[in-house]
This record gives sequence, C-alpha cells and structure tokens, in this order.
Amino acid sequence: MKILVLGSGAREHAIILALRSEEAGHQVFAAPGNAGIAQDATVVDLDPNDPAAVTVFANDRAIDLVVIGPEAPLVAGVADALRERGIPVFGPGRAAAQLEGSKAFAKRIMDAAGVPTGRAVRAATRAQLDAALDDLGSPYVVKADGLAAGKGVIVTADRDAAVAHAETYLPSGPVLVEEFLDGPEVSLFFLSDGDHVLPLSPAQDYKRLLDGDAGPNTGGMGAYSPLPWLAERFGGEDEFVDLVTREVAEPVVRELDAEGTPFIGLLYAGLILTESGVKVIEFNARFGDPETQVVLPRLIDPLSELLLAAASGRLESCPRPAFADAVAVTVVVASEGYPQSPVTGRTLTGTDAAATVDGVHLAHAATAASEAGLVATGGRVLNVVGLGSTFAEARDRVYRAVAEIGLEGGQHRTDIAERVVER
Ligand code: AMP
Ligand code: GLY
Repeated sequence: MKILVLGSGAREHAIILALRSEEAGHQVFAAPGNAGIAQDATVVDLDPNDPAAVTVFANDRAIDLVVIGPEAPLVAGVADALRERGIPVFGPGRAAAQLEGSKAFAKRIMDAAGVPTGRAVRAATRAQLDAALDDLGSPYVVKADGLAAGKGVIVTADRDAAVAHAETYLPSGPVLVEEFLDGPEVSLFFLSDGDHVLPLSPAQDYKRLLDGDAGPNTGGMGAYSPLPWLAERFGGEDEFVDLVTREVAEPVVRELDAEGTPFIGLLYAGLILTESGVKVIEFNARFGDPETQVVLPRLIDPLSELLLAAASGRLESCPRPAFADAVAVTVVVASEGYPQSPVTGRTLTGTDAAATVDGVHLAHAATAASEAGLVATGGRVLNVVGLGSTFAEARDRVYRAVAEIGLEGGQHRTDIAERVVER
C-alpha cells in the first residue's frame, strides 16, 4: 500500500515503524515528519493542516490510505476533505473530532450515551467559578475548554491556584470545573469505523513532569503496556477491555453516528478506575502520545489492514487485534524548560548507541538534522522504547539506553513502570 502519515511526533514515528515492520512492504510518506521519521519514510513538503493540499497530494500520488496523527489536521477538516474525494482516511471529521476539542461537547455526548463520567460545571465568570469551586470542592479540577495539548488542566488542593489557572482562560471563554476522580488512570484505544469498534491493549501514561507524579502536567513523560495490575483487578485484561467496550466505546460511537457525525478513526478513552467504577475523564480523537509508542510495538496483526478496515467501514469482519506477551516501556527525553518554555536548538547525541541496546528502539518526537548532527526542535524530543519479557528487563534496557543520550539540560523521569516492577 501507499500510505501517507500526517504529523511530526513520536506517535507518528511509532505508527510508521509499525507499518514498516509489516511483511507487505508498504511505501510510506510522512508530512511534515522529523529527522527520525525521515529514516523510515519519505518525508514530503506538505502542510498537514491544509485540506486542499493534502487531498491533491493523496490524489496525485494515488495514496491508498491517509493516517492522521495529531488533532490539528482533524480540526482543520483534513479528514472531511479526503473522505469527500473518496480517499480512505483514518481520522474523524471535524464535527466528530470535537469529542476531543470541546470538553462541553464530550460531556453532552457522554450524557446522551449514558457513559459514566465525573460531574462538571461550566463557569464563564468569576462568580460562577467561585460557586462551582464551592459546589465541587477540593481537590479542585479546572479545565480549559479547547485545544490545550494536555496543559489546560489543573488539579490542586490550593484554591488560589485553581482560581489563578481559571483566570488565564476566562477572558477567552468558559472553563469547566470538574468533580475530582480518585484512582489509577488507564488509556484505552479503540479503532472505530463509525459503527463498530475494536479495542487495542491498555496502557498507562505518566502525565506529570517529575518523579513521583510531582510537578506540572505535560503531554506525557512515559508509558508502559500492558497493565498487569489491571488484569488482576478485573480477572483478566479482556474482562476490563470488554467492560469499557460495552459501557464506553460502543455507546459513544453509536451516539455520534445517530447524531450524523460518525467517528471514523481512533477513539482514545482516558479512564479513571474509581471506587465506584470506571469513569471517563476525557476522550481524544487520535492515538495517544506516548501510549502509542508502547501499544503498537506489541501489536501482532498488521496495523495497515486494521486502519484501512476502519477507514473503509469494514471493522466488523476483523478479529480483535492480538498483542504479544512482551511488555513495553517508554521514557520521554524532554528539553530544558519543558513544558513551560522549552529551550530548543540544542544538540542531541548518543542516539546510535542508545538504539544498539538489546530490545530498544527510538521514536523521534522533535528532532531535525543539521550539519553538526541531530538537534532538538521542541519540548518532547525523543522516546526511548524498551521491550522485554518482564518489566524489570524492559526498564533496565530502556534506562541503559537513556543513559547514552546527551542533551544539555535534558529532562526525563526515572520512575516509569517502577511500580509495576515492585509489585
Ligand atoms: P485531561 O486534559 O482532561 O486529559 O486531563 C489531564 C490530566 O489531569 C488527566 O490525565 C488526569 O491526570 C488529570 N485529571 C483530569 N480530570 C480529572 C478529574 N476529574 N479528576 C482527577 N484528575 C483529573
Ligand atoms: N497521552 C496523552 C495524550 O495523548 O493526550
């Protein structure tokens, strides 16, 4: 197949590596890509957020499948434009993508579909904010209603901090104050063809910057998959996955279809396992980053066939995707100053040595090639991914590889998947 992947992060690199690992030998194009992606795909000069440009490219090159990585092209209507021209695309249209972009939209769909989630109150003024904070109590959860790349949320017992956070967003629109949900978080991905869904394997993301879940929220500093504690708690991974399929993914996809906005693409359920059951904290309309980097290396079935089946309304005829028993751990190497104000342009060294560690590969997040070698071009720079037969082994490999990486001021967490090993 000829496949075009839109996006430039480690998630897109992971998608491309999965496509390239297939026996079928696809021709993979990427826009805009990065220095790592350029080693595994043909990088093309194309604005991924321009629906007309992407459609012309896909048409001219007879692309068989377009895979949209990040949210921005979805919001820009790239999937709508491609679908209008009959080009198979994995990614929802603008309307269905609001499931991620608008927390208010997501809450409305969840209410209509009867999906369990926390209580939430919209506040457009300081007075409404104070009332909502009083009503829902501490710890306070305040969210911006829009594209904030995982940084629009504050969870804090400090009321002044909650108010200050809300006030940075209030001038441009209402914020959402939410009931605090207590429990471990799980990310579960579903492929959807608008009608049927197929689940992938669960993963856990580390959202905070620092060890011990301290520091600010980030886009994600590491992840692991599968989640052995989940299998214990629910009597097996499949039991948990079946429950979320039945109670969350299927009702949401049905509701979106009934409203005339079918969801074709990746439905990402961000879940909290509370004492009173599994609840949704958020949906995303795309693969999660960095969870994809630990889920796809474990996928046994050819990814291209699953994505094409979803894009073509044929998921019902596909068996549930199978996953290897091998476990995967990824650690994100980020720039100094991330997430507030990342320092970019610094040299990145040691990637070749890191990739020679047994069971390790790299997914580039924000790198560019220069005469002096690789340079970091963003906040999250690189994902080091380690596979192993146990978490102890995967962690040992991943951190041996991380030790090879040189980036002045670089940051990474040292405790990814540590709690799984200790159990
Ligand atoms: P979101 O942008 O909605 O994914 O939120 C980012 C992170 O904030 C989540 O992954 C959680 O760790 C935390 N969070 C969001 N909403 C809640 C909530 N209602 N209760 C507890 N933690 C939350
Ligand atoms: N891992 C969080 C996200 O992709 O939004």
